[in-house]
Amino acid sequence: MAGKVTVVGAGFYGSTTAQRIAEYDIVDTVVLTDILDGKAEGLALDLNQSRAIEGFETKVVGQTTTIDGQGYEAIADSDVVVITAGLPRKPGMSRMDLIETNAKIVRGVAQNIAKHAPNAVVIVVSNPLDEMTALTQIATGFAKNRVIGQAGMLDTARFTNFVAEALQVPVQSVKTLTLGSHGDTMVPVPSRCTVDGKPLSDLMSAEQIEELVVRTRNGGAEVVALLKTGSAYYAPSAAAARMVKAVIEDAGTVMPVCAWVDGEFGIEGVYLGVEAELGRQGIVCVVETALTENELADLLAASEAVREKQNDVKDL
Ligand code: 2OP
Repeated sequence: MAGKVTVVGAGFYGSTTAQRIAEYDIVDTVVLTDILDGKAEGLALDLNQSRAIEGFETKVVGQTTTIDGQGYEAIADSDVVVITAGLPRKPGMSRMDLIETNAKIVRGVAQNIAKHAPNAVVIVVSNPLDEMTALTQIATGFAKNRVIGQAGMLDTARFTNFVAEALQVPVQSVKTLTLGSHGDTMVPVPSRCTVDGKPLSDLMSAEQIEELVVRTRNGGAEVVALLKTGSAYYAPSAAAARMVKAVIEDAGTVMPVCAWVDGEFGIEGVYLGVEAELGRQGIVCVVETALTENELADLLAASEAVREKQNDVKDL
């Protein structure tokens, strides 16, 4: 076993991501950092004490960092860094309401990653996702294939869960796909949704499918409204941890992620939710999923919406 993964931000999203990666037992070290003095160290100690029970050898290292970058030496030589830093939504907020606050936080984190872990693949989960991913690439100066956002895995998982519940079938029998943005221009891909290989459209009416699509699009907000403080973290951390695993294991796994698209689907230069193959260098390639005319039109519209916001982000 070799390898080192850092998770920046020890809130619920960050700490559960660190826990999942440690429990996979695929790397020597998981570093968990936070700006709250002692929080990451405390959680790391607790996680390490679970090793004997859960049976994993990965060592978790907690590290307090400061705004001016002290403590970041601990992330040196990380193979993958996950950025969870930033504020979550409050009830009633859209992800986009976080853009100014989180841009400042994410930019600072990204600069420290570039300084201390210049060879890492970076996985961004902070919101608004597509914009924070674009900003991280700019602030690190890393090759675009080495900066990836987590959203499609989560949105797809939510959609799959809703379909499985509605049809009362096992989750494993359902395949769904969402592309586009992690937000209002999320693009469901009905032509790729099946239950035991049968098209979803044979099993549910167009209205029923649309209802589940809307619920998926609002999937994060529904959890935020119930929690009242904080946002979802079990499904989001599962998605982020699976992406880390695909990179560490150089698996060539194809998953929906936020990746740099430049030419695929006729879309030029934008971070967008698409299917992509993940490997040791990050994105190996964007997969040009076969789409119907309507789905492609929706993906193009999503790309224009996120491009506009991504152009603004460099000045924040
Ligand atoms: C969500 O959708 C945190 O954006 C994340 O729950």
